[in-house]
Amino acid sequence: MSGPNYGPLLHNNSRLSLMNMNSGKYPVTGAGLGLRRDFINEVVEQPPEQVDFWEVAPENWIGMGGKYGRMFRQMTEKHDFVCHGLSLSIGSPDPLDEDFLKRLKLFLKEHNIRCYTEHLSYCSDGGHLYDLMPIPFTEEAVRYVADRIRRVQEILEQRIAMENVSYYAAPGQEMEEIDFFNAVIEEADCDLHLDVNNIYVNSINHGYDPHEFLNRMPGERIVYCHVAGHYVEAEDLRVDTHGADVIDPVWQLLEAAYEKFGIFPTLLERDFNIPPMNELLTEVDTIAQLQRKWEEKAHVSSATA
Ligand SMILES: [Fe+2]
Repeated sequence: MSGPNYGPLLHNNSRLSLMNMNSGKYPVTGAGLGLRRDFINEVVEQPPEQVDFWEVAPENWIGMGGKYGRMFRQMTEKHDFVCHGLSLSIGSPDPLDEDFLKRLKLFLKEHNIRCYTEHLSYCSDGGHLYDLMPIPFTEEAVRYVADRIRRVQEILEQRIAMENVSYYAAPGQEMEEIDFFNAVIEEADCDLHLDVNNIYVNSINHGYDPHEFLNRMPGERIVYCHVAGHYVEAEDLRVDTHGADVIDPVWQLLEAAYEKFGIFPTLLERDFNIPPMNELLTEVDTIAQLQRKWEEKAHVSSATA
């Protein structure tokens, strides 16, 4: 299978480092921001220099013509892009939408998109469900989902990455979430799209230690990471809304990930209550600051080793 040039390098067990980040190990580098129609006008005119890469949901842009289509083209011609899908529905009992995958393949090529990632969940079951549903944490589901991921990689002729999702119920659970997640990634032989906010939200809602969960992830497979804010419904219930500022424990989890796995590209997700661009950019700046901080620490420790 042909794939992007970063793919095969992800499977050695060497510790990741910023040097790797700059040497083609990752599809993009630095700090990124989700591109929204709400502000595409503004960033086409004046692209913020601290945004190293942009992310879009392909479903929102495939086939887009007119003014927005032209602005999107201008952006993809000048900047690095990744795609984070919404509708693949990898855990669904429904057949894979291969027509969509063929359109997606053309779209990724046409806009030189650096990678495609999806949620390890599903959003359809004989019709559209209005949220991302958890896949039962069972051995049978591991095999089912891994087969489907391999089929997607075959059709797209490239590796894809699956994201650890937030979930609010675990029907038919036979294994721990982390064991399920790792088994799928291993059996599908796909990459990992880390979301530190999702780990944090799940750790509150399901009562586990987010750092232990992170430590057990296969860091050598990470292609990039999401950081986001969430909504506090109650002390023991957080909702993954992407509609608020990132909170300190989530920044700390990101730092722990940089410390353990090295620096990887990281993107701010903000889908609701979108503040003015200069406020969004302060959080993108925080990502870059943390990357510099852990880059320097890695240099110091390798110089003194
Ligand atoms: Fe995410």
